[in-house]
Amino acid sequence: MIRHSLIAMAIGMAASALIQPAAAADSKGAAASVKRGEYLVGILGCHDCHTPLKMGPKGPEPDMKRAFSGHPQDLVMPPAPKLPEGPWLWMGAATNTAFAGPWGVSYSSNLTADKDTGMGKWKPEEFVAAIKTGKHAGVARPIMPPMPWQAYRNLSDGDLKAVFAYLQAQPAVRNQVPQYQPPQPSAAAPVTVPAKK
Ligand code: HEC
Repeated sequence: MIRHSLIAMAIGMAASALIQPAAAADSKGAAASVKRGEYLVGILGCHDCHTPLKMGPKGPEPDMKRAFSGHPQDLVMPPAPKLPEGPWLWMGAATNTAFAGPWGVSYSSNLTADKDTGMGKWKPEEFVAAIKTGKHAGVARPIMPPMPWQAYRNLSDGDLKAVFAYLQAQPAVRNQVPQYQPPQPSAAAPVTVPAKK
């Protein structure tokens, strides 16, 4: 009996000795991925549009308490003003999280790990597919401007997964971003000129 349990213990110890280095290597790999993601996000400028700007003593600055949380839910945007004829084509909110142009009105999404309002339920594969195809989760509606997925799609799958790992490792912020609004059909309708009598 004693011999038996000693053998069992020995096997157990051998097994955990085998498993532990693998687990340690895994978490080391995960940490390296988060680090790489931080580096990439720093270059790719995700904060520019996904972290709302607030007014600071030296002008607008990213509100890091709301890092990556997208357009603030409490900032309800009025309809975008109509631009006069001319070369100005699009408008942006002071937070740099809402954009109106020929594509309609788009709001920067919540990239934090919040399960209900962010990407907490996303799998890394869905994130990679979204950026590679320019479609929500890689399958749904097209992702609108000014999200530069056409540039980010050139990242390798490994780098995209690192970006995702970094984002998932940041504090989750509960913030329900408004729905994208397609262009108003009336705005695009041709102006009708009354017939001359
Ligand atoms: C120039 C502004 C801008 C930059 C820079 C930017 N985004 Fe976006 N992003 C947006 C906007 C606006 C949307 C929402 C588009 C829409 O609703 O169709 C968006 C949408 C997304 C979506 C789609 C979410 C969904 O629900 O389908 C993901 C994922 C995303 N961005 C990730 C990133 C990451 C990661 C970076 C940095 C590597 C980044 N974005 C940089 C503006 C930007």
